[in-house]
Amino acid sequence: MDHFEYRDGVLHAEDIPLPRIAKEIGTPVYVYSRATLERHAQVFADALRDIPRKHIAFAIKCNPNLGVLRVLARQGYGADVVSGGELERALAAGMAAEDIVFSGVGKTRAELAQGLDRGIGQFNIEHEPEGVALSEIAVAKEMTARAVLRVNPDVDAGTHAKISTGKAENKFGVGIDSAPAIFDRLSALPGLKMRGVALHIGSQLTSLDPLEAAFERVGRLVADLRAAGHSITHVDLGGGLGVPYRPEDNPPTPAEYGAMVARVTKDWDVTLMFEPGRVIAGNTGVLLTEVLWVKPGATHPFVIVDAAMNDLARPALYDAWHDFVAVKPTGEKMIASIVGPVCETGDTFARDREIDAVQPGALAVFRTAGAYGATMASTYNSRSLVPEVLVDGDRYITVADRIAAGTIMAAERVPDWID
Ligand code: LLP
Repeated sequence: MDHFEYRDGVLHAEDIPLPRIAKEIGTPVYVYSRATLERHAQVFADALRDIPRKHIAFAIKCNPNLGVLRVLARQGYGADVVSGGELERALAAGMAAEDIVFSGVGKTRAELAQGLDRGIGQFNIEHEPEGVALSEIAVAKEMTARAVLRVNPDVDAGTHAKISTGKAENKFGVGIDSAPAIFDRLSALPGLKMRGVALHIGSQLTSLDPLEAAFERVGRLVADLRAAGHSITHVDLGGGLGVPYRPEDNPPTPAEYGAMVARVTKDWDVTLMFEPGRVIAGNTGVLLTEVLWVKPGATHPFVIVDAAMNDLARPALYDAWHDFVAVKPTGEKMIASIVGPVCETGDTFARDREIDAVQPGALAVFRTAGAYGATMASTYNSRSLVPEVLVDGDRYITVADRIAAGTIMAAERVPDWID
C-alpha cells in the first residue's frame, strides 16, 4: 500500500498534487512519501514480532538520502552499509553507531579502520584475508571488532543474474563447506570477536523457497560451529524480499516472510539480524517526469520523456519494469515505447507497452522508484543529477538538490600544460 493516489483525477503524493512539485521543483524529480516509508518500516518490523531478539538494519544502498534515513532512524532502524561513505551517511542521519552493520565485498583497510573508529556494531567479513586485516587493525588500535562471517550457501535465488549473490560462482562470502575451518582460524585471532554468520542470496526475490533453503543450510552450519565449541550469538539473514513492480506481481508479504523466518529459526537461540532495502523503500517513491515529445515509430510511437537512464537506470541495466502512469489520465490508452533523451537505444523504459495516452507537456510517473532509483543516478550526457523531495502530509521539502551540469563542470579543470 502506498500514499500515491488520484484525487479529482490528479495523482497526489499524500496531500500534495504532483503538478505542484513539477512546477516548483521542475522535472525529472524523485518524490518520496514519508507516510508510505513509515508504514513499510512498521509492517516489516511487525512481521518479525515473533522473533525474540532481532536487529533491523536498512540496506541504505537502495536509498541513502539523509531525509529518508532520518525517517527510518526514528523508526528504530539501524543501517547496513557497504562503504565508508554510507557509514558516514548513516551516522549523519542519526543512526547509532552500534546499530550499523558493515557489509561489502571489497572493504578497504581504511574503511575497516573507519568502522572501528566510529564504533560500529558489526563487521560482516567476506573472506579470510579481510578478517586477518581487521584483526591486525583492531590490535593496533587496542580495540575489538565484533564480526560475523558471510557464507555463500550456494542457492539459486531465482532472480535476475545481476542481482543474485548466493550461488557458489558469485563473488560473495565464503563457501559454506569451507566456513567452519575459516571460522576456527578467525576466532583464534586477537582483536576479533567472531560471533556468528551472515548470508544474503540476492535481491527482488519473489519466492520464499530459496531463502528457506539457504536459512536451513545456515542453521546446520550454526549447529556445527557450536559443536566445534564456538559461541554463536548472531545470525544476519540479509535482505532480498521482492516488491510488486506490476499490478499482477505477487511477491511474498513481509508477514509470510516473518512467519517463515520464525519457523525455520525457532531453535537457533540467536539475535537475528535483517538487512531489508527494497521492501522498505521501493514503493515509497516515484520518478516524476514530463513528456517532451511523441514521435512516430516503426510500429508504435515513442513517448520521449525528460527522465532518462541516468536518472533511473534499472530498466536499462536489468530490463526492469516500472509502471508508467499519467498524473492526469484522460481514460484513453495508447501503445508506445517510453524512452529518455540519452543517446543510447538502451535508454528505454518500456517497449510497445499499453500506457495512459499522453501528449507533449503531460506529466507522468514511473512507480516503485524509491529503491535503487536516485542512488544509481549519474550525470551521463552531462545531464543534471536528479533531485529528490520528501512529502509529509500537506508539506514537502527538497531533500536533495538538483545538481546542475555546470556544478559538475566546475569541479573539473583543463591542464594548463595543454596548449
Ligand atoms: N544486504 C546485502 C549484503 C546486499 O547486498 C543487499 C543488496 C541488501 C542487503 C538489500 O537487498 P534488498 O532487500 O534491497 O533486496 N540495484 C539492484 C539491486 C542490487 C541489490 C544489491 N544488494 C536493483 O536495482 O535491482
